Amino acid sequence: MSHKRPIGIFDSGIGGISIWKEIITLLPNENTIYLADSKNAPYGQKSKEEIIEFSVKNTELLLERNCKLIVIACNTATTNTIKYLRANYNIPFIGIEPAIKPAALQTKTNAIGILATKGTLSSELFNSTSQKFSEGINIIEQIGEGLVPLIESGNIDSVEMDNLLRKYLNPMLEKNIDYLVLGCSHYPFLIPKIRKIVGNKITIIDSGEAVAKQTLSILKQQHKLLNNNIKPHHKLYSNSGITTIQQIVNDLKKNYLIKKLDF
Ligand code: DGL
Repeated sequence: MSHKRPIGIFDSGIGGISIWKEIITLLPNENTIYLADSKNAPYGQKSKEEIIEFSVKNTELLLERNCKLIVIACNTATTNTIKYLRANYNIPFIGIEPAIKPAALQTKTNAIGILATKGTLSSELFNSTSQKFSEGINIIEQIGEGLVPLIESGNIDSVEMDNLLRKYLNPMLEKNIDYLVLGCSHYPFLIPKIRKIVGNKITIIDSGEAVAKQTLSILKQQHKLLNNNIKPHHKLYSNSGITTIQQIVNDLKKNYLIKKLDF
């Protein structure tokens, strides 16, 4: 039955697991296939052409595996490729973008911080959204250079990570932000560390839950929701080392084994 076809999810690596977690929580019956393209991480420093090439490769593998919908669980890939993918493949795509809108609509200090990759912050899609909501608001953009490689290599709890986060966040605090938007799907894994630096008065927003809700809404709309109580299959693949991603999945108390796959 076509409803049983899996939801395909891809990211440049571990980051999209933060989205996968929200999807399997909100849609507990659905089957999923997750691709961590860690071999090519970080996408954030690559050219648009390269990001399109990787996203096409990931999409074609998910199509071969008969996915019914694809979630681009990566802000960098979404902001640089979703238009291309939608124009070239006949399957629904759901993307993730930095949540500027809720931050801009709710800020009281009229200053919000956005931490994202260079690829996202320089994309047309990000800049047009940012312009729409920037009137009267100081949007402080910061490239999180170096954060993704540290996460991918299992060095979240390192002095280097603490130093980088302080370097990126302290100038935002000086500008009196009250909202911090995490514009990269890898960054939710840093929330406990970020919280220690920014304190409790700042609202941290990431887009994981919104993506899961959008996935639910599109599947409903297209009558493709899986409504049974059979235990779902989740297939998680990485094309590079699996130790760190396995640890992250274990920490979420999700009992699934990551497999190595050459793609
Ligand atoms: N996790 C991705 C994002 O949301 C990309 C990080 C990277 O590979 O640079 O932007």
